[in-house]
Amino acid sequence: MKTLLIVYHSMTGGTEQMVQAAAGAASEPELRVRVLRAPQAKAADLLAADGYIFATPENLAAVSGLMKDFFDRTYYQVLDAINGNPYAALVCAGSDGHNAARQIERIATGWRLKAIAPPLIVCSHAQTKEEIFAPKHIDPAQLDACRTLGATMACGLAAGIF
Ligand SMILES: Cc1cc2nc3c(=O)[nH]c(=O)nc-3n(C[C@H](O)[C@H](O)[C@H](O)COP(=O)(O)O)c2cc1C
Repeated sequence: MKTLLIVYHSMTGGTEQMVQAAAGAASEPELRVRVLRAPQAKAADLLAADGYIFATPENLAAVSGLMKDFFDRTYYQVLDAINGNPYAALVCAGSDGHNAARQIERIATGWRLKAIAPPLIVCSHAQTKEEIFAPKHIDPAQLDACRTLGATMACGLAAGIF
């Protein structure tokens, strides 16, 4: 039985909807899917998993603080112990998202993980203070893209392709 670990943070629900879509589509008989919020995720969870989806809002042109805290707490503990495992990144941004995606790519490169797809960036179009703090509603077409990513990861992991 393989394990897919999804680690995420979300303040206003956008990233969480992306994660729910990806996790919901990641159903394979030979696959266990674990979804953890960043503060709950530990090095042992990474070590016990065979593949990963990291999902974050972009905040101040970076991964969110709690995702950074997760990477800071676990990076050196699992270095050289998860080489070659597959991963994908989901980023929910107001209008950009590329710096957060780049940060995850650099961390994953350090861990020697294999990207199964380019980072999936979804823009919630929040610009004003009111929009930034409002609950987010991710477009159905973009949730479909998250489902495709989750299903692809699940299928590849379960089949031993990645
Ligand atoms: C403190 C803060 C900083 C932000 N900085 C950026 C940014 O640099 N680039 C961007 O595209 N969006 C930025 N945003 C917008 C969020 O990425 C956007 O609201 C996103 O939908 C949040 O995801 P969530 O609903 O999962 O919390 C920022 C939001 C906050 C609260």
